[in-house]
Amino acid sequence: MELTTVKELFSDREKYLDKEVQVGGWIRSIRDSKAFGFIVLNDGTCFDTLQIVYHDTMENFAEVSKLNVGAAIIVKGTLVATPEAKQPFEIQADQVLVEGVSNADYPLQKKRHSFEYLRTISHLRPRTNTFQAVFRVRSLIAYAIHKYFQEQGFVYVHTPLITGSDCEGAGEMFQVTTMDLANVPKKDDGTVDFSQDFFGKPTNLTVSGQLNAETYAMAFRNVYTFGPTFRAENSNTTRHAAEFWMIEPEMAFADLNDNMAVAEGMLKYVIRYVLENAPAEMDFFNQFVDKGLLDRLNHVLNSEFGHVTYTEAIKLLEEHNDKFDYKVFWGCDLQTEHERYLTEEIFKKPVFVTDYPKEIKAFYMKLNEDGKTVAAMDCLVPGIGEIIGGSQREDSYDKLLGRMKELGLREEDYGFYLDLRKYGSVRHSGFGLGFERCVMYLTGMGNIRDVVPFPRTVNNCDL
Ligand code: 4AD
Repeated sequence: MELTTVKELFSDREKYLDKEVQVGGWIRSIRDSKAFGFIVLNDGTCFDTLQIVYHDTMENFAEVSKLNVGAAIIVKGTLVATPEAKQPFEIQADQVLVEGVSNADYPLQKKRHSFEYLRTISHLRPRTNTFQAVFRVRSLIAYAIHKYFQEQGFVYVHTPLITGSDCEGAGEMFQVTTMDLANVPKKDDGTVDFSQDFFGKPTNLTVSGQLNAETYAMAFRNVYTFGPTFRAENSNTTRHAAEFWMIEPEMAFADLNDNMAVAEGMLKYVIRYVLENAPAEMDFFNQFVDKGLLDRLNHVLNSEFGHVTYTEAIKLLEEHNDKFDYKVFWGCDLQTEHERYLTEEIFKKPVFVTDYPKEIKAFYMKLNEDGKTVAAMDCLVPGIGEIIGGSQREDSYDKLLGRMKELGLREEDYGFYLDLRKYGSVRHSGFGLGFERCVMYLTGMGNIRDVVPFPRTVNNCDL
C-alpha cells in the first residue's frame, strides 16, 4: 500500500474518510495512558499535523509508547472524523511501524525554541513549525517569480558564478583560485603571477549577473537571471549575507519608468501568489512572527507604490535629522535607518527612490541631463529598507567609456560590455531583487539568517 500524504488527507478528506490509509512521518509529540496513546505526526507535505490514536491491542504497543519526539514511523489505520475536536479528523491506528527511532537527546522538544538556538542546529530546524513555514514559502516565492517572468515571455538566462569582473565596482568579492596560498607564484616585480592560476587571470565569485544578463537582453529583449551571488561585505547585520540569491531582469527598449512598473508588478504578483497558495503558513506568521503582516501585505496589493527622487527624499529626511545616528545631507548614501524612516514613517508603503547622485552608484547607470544624478531606482519596503536596486543603463558608448575611465576601470576587462554599445545599442533597464530580503518581507522574519537554509555570514560557514 502506498503512503498517502497528510496534504491529500486535508485537501480531499471525503475521499479518505472511514477508509484505510497509510501515512509516514516524524513524531512531533507523543503521550500515552495505559490502554492507548496519542501521536502528533508531521509528514512534511503540509503545514498541518495529523493526530494518531493507537491502542494496546497493537502487538508493539510498548515499543511505540517508548518512542521519542523525532522518531520516524509508518502508520496504517482508518481516518475518522472528529467533529468535537480541534482537528477535523484523526487516524485510529491498526499498526505503527517504526522506521527509525530518535535518541532521547533529540535537540527539538515541544517547547518553543529561540531562533538563536535553532540557528545552531540548521540541519534540524526545518522540522519546526516556523521553519517549515519559512522554507515552504521560500520555495513558493521562487516558483512565483519564475512564473511571473515566464508568463511575460522573459527568457531565463543562467549567468556564470565565476567571473573576471566586479559588476558593482565595490571590491567586495570572494576570489577564486587554485593557487597554493602559502606559496603564490610571483612575477619579477613581486606581484602575484596570475598567469599560472587556473584561468590565467584573477577571478572571483559573481556579485551580480547583470553584465552578462545585459548581453542576452540585447538578443532576446526581455531576460532574467535567478541565481546565487556572493559578497564579501563585512556587514554583520540582520539583512546582509555573504551568499544570497538575486533575481535580475533586464529589458531592452525599457526606461526607468518601465523598470519600476515591472518591479511593482512582480512584487504584487508574488505577494498575491503566496497569500493564495500558503494561507496556513501566512496565518501562522501573522499570529506568531509579525502581527501586522497580513494587513500590511493586503494594503500593498491595494495601493500604488510611492515615488520620490533622491533629492526630494533628502529634503524630507533632513527635517528629521535629530532622529538619526547618521545625519542626512545631499550626496550621502542612504542608511537603513533613513530608508526605513522613509518607507515606514513618511510613505507607510513601498516606495521607489530615484535619481541618486552618480558618485554613490555603479558605473553602468545612465547619466541624467543634470550631469549630477543617474537614472537609478531603489525600492524600499517597511520592515527592511532596500529590497530592490536597479537602473536604466548607460547606452552611449562614449559616456560609458568616459565614466569607466573616471573610475579607473580597465577598458580591456569590459570589452564585451562596451561592444553592446557599439552594435545596436538600445535604451535598456533592469534591477536586482534580493531574494532573501523578499522572503523576509513576505514572512515578517526579522533576520536574514532565518530565511536561508544554511546561511553564510561573517565568521559563519557551518554545514
Ligand atoms: O543594489 P544591488 O547591489 O544591485 C545590483 O547588484 C545590481 N547589479 C542589480 C541589477 O540592476 N541587476 O543589489 C540588489 C539587491 C539589493 O536591493 C538587496 O535586496 C540585495 O540585492 N542584496 C543583498 N541581500 C542580502 N545580502 C547582501 N549582502 C546583499 N547585497 C545586496
